[in-house]
Amino acid sequence: MPAKNKIIILSAFVLIVCLSFKNTQDTALFTVPGNFPKPAYQFARNPLSADGIELGKTLFYDAIVSSDNTVSCGSCHQQSAGFTQHGHALSHGVDDRLTKRNSMPLFNMAWATSFGWDGGVHDLDFFAVSPITNPAEMNESLGNVLEKLRKSEQYPAMFKRAFGTEEINSERFLKALSQFMLTMVSANAKYDKYMRYEGVELNETELAGMALFKQKCASCHSGELFTDFSFRNNGLGGMTDDDKGRFEVNQNEGDQFKFKVPSLRNLSYTTPYMHDGRFKTLEEVLAHYASTVEKNDFLDPLLSQNGQLGIALTADEQKKIISFLKTLDDEDFINNPKFAETTLALSIPKRNVELDVMPFKTKSVKVKEVLNQGIEVYLKMKEAIKTQNTGSAAALSERLPKVLRKIDVSKLGKKEKVFFISYLEKVTFNADHIIEGEYSAEHQADHFNELSKYFYVLIASFKPNSTDLYYHRCETSDQNWLSNKAQEVLAPANCSTIKTIKL
Ligand code: HEC
Ligand code: HEC
Repeated sequence: MPAKNKIIILSAFVLIVCLSFKNTQDTALFTVPGNFPKPAYQFARNPLSADGIELGKTLFYDAIVSSDNTVSCGSCHQQSAGFTQHGHALSHGVDDRLTKRNSMPLFNMAWATSFGWDGGVHDLDFFAVSPITNPAEMNESLGNVLEKLRKSEQYPAMFKRAFGTEEINSERFLKALSQFMLTMVSANAKYDKYMRYEGVELNETELAGMALFKQKCASCHSGELFTDFSFRNNGLGGMTDDDKGRFEVNQNEGDQFKFKVPSLRNLSYTTPYMHDGRFKTLEEVLAHYASTVEKNDFLDPLLSQNGQLGIALTADEQKKIISFLKTLDDEDFINNPKFAETTLALSIPKRNVELDVMPFKTKSVKVKEVLNQGIEVYLKMKEAIKTQNTGSAAALSERLPKVLRKIDVSKLGKKEKVFFISYLEKVTFNADHIIEGEYSAEHQADHFNELSKYFYVLIASFKPNSTDLYYHRCETSDQNWLSNKAQEVLAPANCSTIKTIKL
């Protein structure tokens, strides 16, 4: 063969090798777990890079993406909750507006073929547009977000590192978010280690549960992802026209009240369950399949076989299935610092509520008296939160807005009135969640932190306090609280520096 041909063949070979590498993706950044199928995401279109992932992560945790700079993707997708929102049936966004659905867990997105409970989005690269522009989520326009990013100090350089130039456009923005989300692979549960023969065995109950699961559940929750990505109706009762699921996307009559079959990984962290968050425990879920499946025109045929509604399951079988489901909890994923907000290379400036403080300084004795009573109730509530006395925290949360409502707003000036009502609403909203969160100290703490921010702005603006008060804020854990001590630690959280303001 002439030397020239040899060179042509050789270069063609080199080219093919290079191209196929580009298609597979850098294995240090993304590896397909041994027991998983081939991903659905086309990595060749958006090759991951360490800088792209870091940019995506920074954007994911940055509230700059929302209209009032208070809500980030991470607000509704929290790592410790399997990237759902702690203890929330329906997630809430800017101005504490409720969305109509339960926040979805985020992991193994490289394998998904559609996104959202109704599968309304087919490409992960487009998903972020929906929460950003949804009025109940981030209520912002993509154009505005890009403008804010262009004006920021850190982002132009980060985009340059990730994509070669400082240009910030929607494609780059969305691709960076995807890059981070794609790395969120959860495949290290006890079940996975057992499947991959990594020296872990399932016990007898778990194995019995697995066998039952394969027989009774795996027709929908199939494979290693525990979903076949189809849309089905599993007989939940009481559905209303407010949410018709898949139908809202395709207007196909037969798809009414059908929702995506969700993955069953990490269930211990992602409570509550179903698209509307109606069940708090796995026992309730299993009891549903065993005895409360309701007949409707769209019910999946698998759930009404031989004239029997639901799935035949004894109490013992339900318990065994639950122990199997727990083997799908992936503690490594939940604790992996790669996905944690606290390990961001850049610290994102959090919204500075100090800027919201107004110089009202009330003179009214009555207003002062009521606000001081409010402070007393708040401080007791803080003690209850600190000691995780959830019952007492709930009771005190019920009192706080009631006390504040004693203020006769018609006596306030026009500006003071609007301000007071708006902050009273914010305090009340979070107090309501502390009351509702009686079952979860974690959920209460989340809302206590929010409530404290608003209560601080309220008190600092009217300055009624006769005694010393301090506002403490921990940047790393996003905790903040009021105290009558100049130094205080709220919880042994991962807090390196506490910032304190004297009121
Ligand atoms: C206000 C709370 C909220 C915010 C903020 C939020 N999400 Fe979500 N997220 C949800 C809810 C609720 C769903 C389910 C949506 C549906 O089915 O309509 C969801 C679903 C998703 C899904 C689909 C997952 C799947 O498996 O189908 C992705 C991906 C996602 N969110 C990413 C993001 C990103 C990226 C951001 C930030 C740009 C973000 N979310 C901000 C609440 C939120
Ligand atoms: C006919 C298909 C089908 C079968 C069979 C089925 N499921 Fe489901 N499952 C679904 C669908 C669809 C949803 C989501 C429904 C919704 O939110 O409206 C779901 C939701 C769930 C959820 C909630 C997960 C979350 O993240 O909110 C759990 C847990 C669950 N199923 C467990 C099981 C178990 C255990 C079995 C077997 C006893 C089972 N499923 C059998 C279709 C099915």
